Amino acid sequence: MNNIERLQQLKNTNTLPPQELEILIDTYTQKDREYAAELARDVSFIHFGKSVYIRGIIEFSNYCRCNCLYCGLRKDNLNVHRYRLDVEEIMNCCKCGYALGFRTFVLQSGEDKWYTDQRMTDIVRTIHSTYPDCAITLSIGELSYSSYKKFFDAGANRFLLRHETATPSHYEKLHPMQQTLENRLQCLENLKEIGYQIGAGMMVGSPYQTTKHLVNDLIYMEKIKPQMIGIGPFLPHHETPFRDFKAGSIELTLLLLSVIRLMHPRVLLPATTALEIAKKCGRIDGIFAGANVIMPNISPQVVRRDYMLYDNKDLADVETVNSVKYLDEKLKKIGYHAVIDRGDYPIEEGSND
Ligand code: 5AD
Ligand code: SF4
Repeated sequence: MNNIERLQQLKNTNTLPPQELEILIDTYTQKDREYAAELARDVSFIHFGKSVYIRGIIEFSNYCRCNCLYCGLRKDNLNVHRYRLDVEEIMNCCKCGYALGFRTFVLQSGEDKWYTDQRMTDIVRTIHSTYPDCAITLSIGELSYSSYKKFFDAGANRFLLRHETATPSHYEKLHPMQQTLENRLQCLENLKEIGYQIGAGMMVGSPYQTTKHLVNDLIYMEKIKPQMIGIGPFLPHHETPFRDFKAGSIELTLLLLSVIRLMHPRVLLPATTALEIAKKCGRIDGIFAGANVIMPNISPQVVRRDYMLYDNKDLADVETVNSVKYLDEKLKKIGYHAVIDRGDYPIEEGSND
């Protein structure tokens, strides 16, 4: 089998044996990548037309009790100006976002215990009652089953928790001992059981990552079948132990976006900010590779520079590219358009999911 045949098989059967995935990742050429993107766009078109869903991210706290070795917000980085937004400030972001047309709010933070179950529930409930037509996505890390359940009952519908890597030995290289893959995967199971639409995913080119690790990630996601998958290139942050590692490959990220689209035809697949930082208009390339979601930042301007997971040399630029109008213009140039809609995971007629 050659790579073209591998990609065709992926499109036709939504799967490929692990050893074939490994060969594809190790030997793809630019031509293969373009072919993969073409097939992925076809599949996207069937389910979503030329629509790109826009979600507003509110980064409401950059305090984090975790120490992920790759992340600029890790607890041991003492050179971060830490901030928290209160309910009122968060509601203000929603108000601006709503006026801009956003119908999904993504609440993202480090793991910050200041937001007790009570406080978090209040925030979710307030957003839900003020904007009952909007979806609420949480991206707030590993918590207990009962906390997740409370937020769900208060009106949260979706939860993003990237698995980061499905290989335990690799997970240990990216995280301190206290953070385990076992707990992370259990959290994803719990979220799913409660009824959230879940988002998993990994960085591409994270330190010590091998092709086998990536294949394990793809196999894991085949099993858990997330409704959303977030992937982006690893980008070093100068205040982390991984400062001297090189950034993940943009081309490989784009290939994997296409592969993921072929494996999960209806998945909500963001073209991530990391891709945009790695390459000007990287998100547009992502859409062209089969992604169908863009998540602009709608946090207050004053806190944006404090939410740095990775080094970002061109912040001003990224703020412009976050504007909905700018995005829509860029999308129109490639024949797509931004949609202001909740953009739920499409349910196939006759299916149980
Ligand atoms: N480079 C790229 N992505 C990163 N993330 C955290 N740090 C980095 C980095 N240095 C990603 C992780 C996390 C998500 C919120 O951001 O995958 O789950
Ligand atoms: Fe905290 Fe998330 Fe950064 Fe890990 S990746 S240190 S959990 S903000």
